Amino acid sequence: MYKIISGKEVSLAVKERVAEKVREFKAEGIEPCLAVILVGEDPASKVYVNNKKKACEFCGIRSLEYVLPEETTQDELVELIEKLNGDSSVNGILCQLPLPKHIDEKTVLNLIKPEKDVDAFHPENVGHIMIGDFNFLPCTPAGIMEMLKSENISLDSKHCVIIGRSNIVGKPMAMLMLKENATVTVCHSHTANLKEIVKQADVIVAAVGRPRFVTADMVKDGAIIIDVGINRGEDGKLCGDVDFDACCEKSSYITPVPGGVGPMTIATLMQNTITAAEIQNKG
Ligand code: GUN
Repeated sequence: MYKIISGKEVSLAVKERVAEKVREFKAEGIEPCLAVILVGEDPASKVYVNNKKKACEFCGIRSLEYVLPEETTQDELVELIEKLNGDSSVNGILCQLPLPKHIDEKTVLNLIKPEKDVDAFHPENVGHIMIGDFNFLPCTPAGIMEMLKSENISLDSKHCVIIGRSNIVGKPMAMLMLKENATVTVCHSHTANLKEIVKQADVIVAAVGRPRFVTADMVKDGAIIIDVGINRGEDGKLCGDVDFDACCEKSSYITPVPGGVGPMTIATLMQNTITAAEIQNKG
């Protein structure tokens, strides 16, 4: 028997905690505020940005939305970020990725002031994560840790296999799992014998971006499966990086898509926004 870990439920609990904190802040005259920037027409990004706005409303966080056309120049985007950096009423700044090809992602992310960097993408914050001394939590990995915590799952001495080495998920995920005393393997497109390695995992984190990449023959009996993917399958339906129907029976815990990791990423973002408000108002 396996158990589905619902990101919808766990994220609701996190957002309720955040909402309570926002009420306390407001009683002290502090109004947390998150600015979200979307450049271009990527349909998935539009959905994410809309979900972030809804989460802000739920938590009582003021949200500012900047929806810019695809042809926005890098200079125009830089100008907007500099304005938001200098606006003391804005606590958090998030620039939705991917950016259009003519804009250099690194330049833009490095420009966001580290104390307003609620995505934790700035090298200064990445460095903090690397040494386990957090200002901001990496949103998706921290959301995953919260899901595991909600089931009292300890990672101590477990073998965690992460598939994917992105700066957003794979690398920071490895850091958080190491901090909890797991043995961590990070697999990627050049990994030899990937199937055999995944098969040894007590915990699988699939962040590949390929529909139903993890198949039942890669899963050890009783493994915990965390699915970070959000893909459109050939049938047009949303699906994860894990073949859920085939893998669930072999797992002890598994996260669904949708309603799994996705809502947790947003809940962590809300948490980071109040952290930003705290740093900026209370030092
Ligand atoms: N695009 C996909 N995931 C994310 C995220 O966590 N933050 C931002 N800014 N863009 C993304």
